[in-house]
Amino acid sequence: MKMSEKLISAEEVVKHTTSESCWVVLYGNVYDVTEFLPSHPGGSKIILQLAGRDATEEYDPIHPPGTLEENLKPEAKLGKIDPQTLVRTTKTAAKEEKKGVSADEIPPMESLLNLDEIEQVATKRMPEKAWAYYYSSSDDTFSKSFNNKVYRDILLRPRVFIDCTRCDSSTTLLDHKVGLPIFVSPAAMARLGHPDGEAGIARACAKFGAMQVISNNASMTPEQIVADAKPGQMFGWQLYVQNDRAKSEAMLARINRMRDRFKFICLTLDAPVPGKRELDEKQNFKNAVTVASGVKTASEPNRPGGGGVGQQLFFGTASDLTWKVTLPWLAKHTDLPIVLKGVQTHEDAYLAAKYAPQVRAVILSNHGGRALDTAPPAVHTLLEIRKYCPEVLDRIEVWVDGGIKRGTDVVKALCLGAKAVGIGRPALFGLGAGGQAGVERTLEILKAETETCMRLLGVEKVSELSPRHINSRKVERDIFEGDAGLETFGLWDKVKSKL
Ligand code: LAC
Repeated sequence: MKMSEKLISAEEVVKHTTSESCWVVLYGNVYDVTEFLPSHPGGSKIILQLAGRDATEEYDPIHPPGTLEENLKPEAKLGKIDPQTLVRTTKTAAKEEKKGVSADEIPPMESLLNLDEIEQVATKRMPEKAWAYYYSSSDDTFSKSFNNKVYRDILLRPRVFIDCTRCDSSTTLLDHKVGLPIFVSPAAMARLGHPDGEAGIARACAKFGAMQVISNNASMTPEQIVADAKPGQMFGWQLYVQNDRAKSEAMLARINRMRDRFKFICLTLDAPVPGKRELDEKQNFKNAVTVASGVKTASEPNRPGGGGVGQQLFFGTASDLTWKVTLPWLAKHTDLPIVLKGVQTHEDAYLAAKYAPQVRAVILSNHGGRALDTAPPAVHTLLEIRKYCPEVLDRIEVWVDGGIKRGTDVVKALCLGAKAVGIGRPALFGLGAGGQAGVERTLEILKAETETCMRLLGVEKVSELSPRHINSRKVERDIFEGDAGLETFGLWDKVKSKL
């Protein structure tokens, strides 16, 4: 009998609960994770809390298949748990508290009329930790709310006496036809909120021909997520470059092989270090699993863990990316188009456009207000680009995300020159409210609202939307004022020679 087939009794497993010898049961197998403890991104305490018992329920929603094989040596798998000896353990403090919502309290998805109502249902249904992770944003959460509020300050200019019987909200992104100018932005850990996970979002997108950008920190593998994709369904892969570049290179190779589905690599730039998300972090204290703040005390050693889910996910992510080094490195490992996500100034949009055709698009984004609080909303950056370097809009595609709650928000961004509009939290809240059906409802509502808005403006096609359909004067007053800072300061030469 091979070692891996050895039967190990539950009585034996419960003896190994310390940092000197730590065993856990996952999917019926017993693992010795002692050596791995110090390098676990979530910190060792969270594993020790689950030591000596079956940790599958806690482990499964946040680790895509393959994680164990990637991180543990083969000999760490000690054998199989002997089912005869298994006594179901009671919930520990680490266990998620499910919100007590009975089935009859869950309204039919079609009775939900807007994204706020979907979020309310998701808030009731989702495990608190998942909700806090998705909902949270940094510091005083100003950018998160301003991302949405800024759309209210743009007024629409409807034209009348126009036949508005027909409306077509389809468009093209990077030359691929999509059913909607709305896409799902990369957002981590979908299975924390609902077992349908990223694959459920993909199935919902399929119904609308909507594009989905998969998070580097997805809770499912890319293969699982695109398994039921429809012909022509478009995906992008978001990359957080890892300190261990070989890991990212392997991932790029994997995505290159799936190019029938993945049409670009989306490199996130707005969060080279995680923001301080206090709501997310507080969850740790609540369950008293790891009383370790993201703000380390002076006496603490530099260690993984602590902080919230966000801080844990960022463990191992590189913060040394530059125009000069990272784009050529990417070119060596993929010939897929690059989409730079997280551009927040016209200067950086200008630089990105200089890298066309390797860079085919930018996403103006402040990471949903989760990175730098008081960073500008995408609308400000879009207006800056229009003012200081409008040629960017001709050289590359400009997409936006953050704060989208209504079809009118979508249309306003498109009028300003955005080619597409991303939704992050709304897709996750859709999932939390009703799994795949909740995401479908989210997209259904946004599509209907977008089309109603277009028709009331007197517009039949997305390509007809223009700055003449909006009055953005109020917002323009607040955007950056000064020298464009492009040729004057030799911006491009600086990037080439110094950064
Ligand atoms: C976040 C990262 C993982 O915002 O994108 O939590």
